[in-house]
This record gives sequence, C-alpha cells and structure tokens, in this order.
Amino acid sequence: MRKKIVAGNWKMNKNREETTRLISELKTAIQKSDAEVIIAPTFVNLAESLGELKGSFIQVSAQNMHFAESGAYTGEISADMLKSIGVSTVILGHSERRAYFGEDDALLAKKVDAALKAGMRIIFCFGEELDQRKSGDHFKVVESQLKNALFHLKGDAWKNIVLAFEPVWAIGTGETASPEQAQEMHAFIRKTLTEAYDSGIAEGVSILYGGSVKPGNAEEIFSKADVDGGLIGGASLVAADFAAIVAAAG
Ligand code: 13P
Repeated sequence: MRKKIVAGNWKMNKNREETTRLISELKTAIQKSDAEVIIAPTFVNLAESLGELKGSFIQVSAQNMHFAESGAYTGEISADMLKSIGVSTVILGHSERRAYFGEDDALLAKKVDAALKAGMRIIFCFGEELDQRKSGDHFKVVESQLKNALFHLKGDAWKNIVLAFEPVWAIGTGETASPEQAQEMHAFIRKTLTEAYDSGIAEGVSILYGGSVKPGNAEEIFSKADVDGGLIGGASLVAADFAAIVAAAG
C-alpha cells in the first residue's frame, strides 16, 4: 500500500521566530494522522525546526539542494550537509526553481542522483504551464519532465521517490486543477511508469497533487484513486488550514 503524504512547502516564508511559532501551533493542531506529514521550512531554520519537532511525528524536508558533494559553489547546500543535521527528504524540481533559477531537466537529473547517492528521499515536482495545458500538450510535457530527470534510475531507486504533480497555472493562483484533472494526470503518470518500469513501481509510488490545495477542496482532491496526498504552499503557512488539509488526507 502506498503512503498518503501531506507536505507543506513553506517556500521563502517565515523567519526564525515565525517558524518556531508555526511549528508550535502545528504540534497542537496535528496530534496524529494516518498520512505522513512533512514541513519544508527554509534552510536556515531546518536545524532548529528538527529540534522543535523532536518526539513529534511531523517530519522535516529541505526545499532544494546542490548536486555536488562539496566545493566552490557559493551560497549552495549539499546533501551531506542536510543529512548531517538530520534532514533526509528534499524537494527537487519545483516550478519556481525551474522558472526563476534556470533549473532544467538535465540539472535536476544530477540533483536526483546526488540526493539518492546520499540516501535521501526526494519529493520530485513537475507540471505543465498554462499555455501547454491550453494547447493540449500537458501529457507530453509531464512525460518528458519525468523521463529526462528520472527514467535513467534503476527500479529500486523508486522506493525513495515521491512524485508531486504541480500544474504551474494552479500554483499560488487560487485556481486548482479539478479533482478529475488531477486524477487524469496521476493515472497517466502511473501508466507511463508502468511502461517505463513495471506496475509494481507504478502502483508503489506516492503521487501528490500541488496547486492551491485548501481546506475547502482537499478532501475531494485526495479522494481520487491515484492522488496520494498533497504538496501545499500558501495554506501550509496557517496552522489551522494545514491541519484541516492533513485531516482531509485521512
Ligand atoms: P500553493 O498551494 O500556494 O498554490 O503552492 C503550491 C506549491 O507550489 C507547493 O509546492
């Protein structure tokens, strides 16, 4: 049985004090869940967040990392650094990294390899832009994003991969993919994985939906057969909203 996961991508939000406050609120608001619950605060607050969540089932993820093990990459963070403070999950391929920081499939393939080599779990994001959806190219776009960054992996690597379908037009816009659109794409992803690997891998991987998930729409989206939870942006910054979304995941 694949896992349900609800992950909060805090993006570049919450300073140290605000991070502490939100974590404290989350610990009260989310006492238990059948889903795995993950938060991804900014790099500078990861270590302290881990300390504050000691004993809690809420896990901590990084939002990004560099592909090199170490070296002259000013301002960057390696997998080893994350592992050394106790972070073993990382979000890679977010559309904001692709759009604002020039991350392409080839670079992401290198990051994926580095993260897996370090023994990390990856939440891998991908999704089409609005014009690609309008022109009917969304399946082709998603297939090539997956193929270029992930399909060089051996089958056993997939136990450390979580997929997050995040249509760019639904991120931070208040416009969500309908539950049917999410289900249609998630089923397509599983079919693509079955063709590239096998049905065991396709059925075993958790596929999250991301893009304007809110307390009011989470339950319906999560009820779809191939939607295994969500990657939440804005609503993960408000404890009551994130707790309600976690509750919707069961
Ligand atoms: P929103 O939930 O704010 O649309 O963001 C989704 C997202 O980008 C999560 O990674």
